[in-house]
Amino acid sequence: MVRESWASRVGFILAAVGSAVGLGNVWRFPWMTAEYGGSAFLVVYLCIVLLVGVPGLLAEFVIGRRSNRNPAGALARLAPGTKSWGYVGLFGVVTALILLSFYSVVGGWIVRYFLASFSGSYFADPSGYFGTISFGWEAVAFQVAFLALTALVVLGGVRRGIEAATKVMMPLIVVLLAVLAGWAVTRPGAGAGLSFYLHFDPAPIKNDPIGMLRAAAGQALFTLSLGVGTMITYASYLGEDNSLPFDGSVIAVLNTAVGVLAGLVVFPLLFAFQGGLTEVTRGGESGAIFMGVAGAFREMPYGEVVAVGFFAAILFAALSSSISMLEIPVAYLVDEQDVSRRNATLGLTALVLVTGAVCALTPSVFTFVAGTLVDLMLTAGLAGFLVFTGWILGKNALAEFDSGAGGIARSLGTPWLWGVRTILPLFLLVTLALNLYSLLSG
Ligand code: TRP
Repeated sequence: MVRESWASRVGFILAAVGSAVGLGNVWRFPWMTAEYGGSAFLVVYLCIVLLVGVPGLLAEFVIGRRSNRNPAGALARLAPGTKSWGYVGLFGVVTALILLSFYSVVGGWIVRYFLASFSGSYFADPSGYFGTISFGWEAVAFQVAFLALTALVVLGGVRRGIEAATKVMMPLIVVLLAVLAGWAVTRPGAGAGLSFYLHFDPAPIKNDPIGMLRAAAGQALFTLSLGVGTMITYASYLGEDNSLPFDGSVIAVLNTAVGVLAGLVVFPLLFAFQGGLTEVTRGGESGAIFMGVAGAFREMPYGEVVAVGFFAAILFAALSSSISMLEIPVAYLVDEQDVSRRNATLGLTALVLVTGAVCALTPSVFTFVAGTLVDLMLTAGLAGFLVFTGWILGKNALAEFDSGAGGIARSLGTPWLWGVRTILPLFLLVTLALNLYSLLSG
């Protein structure tokens, strides 16, 4: 069977932005920003996105477009004569399944909050509500609904499924968030939220530089969907004529813009209607944002309408990311094991129903997977992809980088390759070591 490809360049860019823009932007990013003292975190995070994230994204693009394969097949094919690089790709395929297992739990929460927003049933007791719905069999039921939506899109294939769905969802997310942000920042009292969010205060960097660095690096990889092979897979459906550096920059800028936009909704709302960060939101736990915004919705006129728009935007963002997670193992089975897309999608969804239910039933597993484990696996995975690009592909990586790129972008190729060979994997390995150390020292 002929391998599918994107129908258009815009389709590819929107699908990749759809993967990048997700719960990482609207749920994890404000949560991390709040935990690490606001604007200081934002600055460190932006630097890492620019200096590590974008070059990493380009490395994945290069691997994907050169091989036209899923991560495992890509690395195996591009390094003939040795099987071991294929395992690095396979590691990514497994990571994708683990990611989806916890991501779909949160996706289930969103489906539920979206539906409950029409009546506002959770406004009265935000933390009580979150407490009852977040884990247990009801959480599993909503997780199943979210996974079913995900599978439905992936079943449709690259053009008719992923590309068509993200082309509709991405503009909707931006419009919904922009309207909400415009409204939120003009509420009386919103200014305090804005200044917490955007005013630069270096104190948190000085207090816990290592912790902040780890958090910012983890967030940068997570938000750009790096280290798993999502971007390898999406670029594998590309022809040769796109400029990878240009497309990569557009994707990173749009992703960051949506993250900042989500912060412009969340922080003004929290400060205008809740009087600031409450103990829950400051505590930086997974439910903080849900409880925080719920409390704000309760205080505002027509809170239900705002809530429906807010959770619709998040639901689209979550879906366009979860489909990119499921697409990795699906592409693997289709490319390497000759399984049909239909059987691959259904079989893998069934598998994630089981592994995901474990996360939805055991909060401690969920927290470990969503935080520590994912950070470790993404960092290790991206380090592997970078070393592969820099040392195995080498000059071929540069040729792929240049293909379709204009003059200015080409001049960035050589410094990019040197970064990919040396300083960037080193940075990731140091982050990995710091993460392992903090894990082992409890
Ligand atoms: N980037 C997405 C978000 O911010 C999550 C995501 C999708 C992802 N695919 C990924 C994260 C692959 C890591 C790897 O929500």
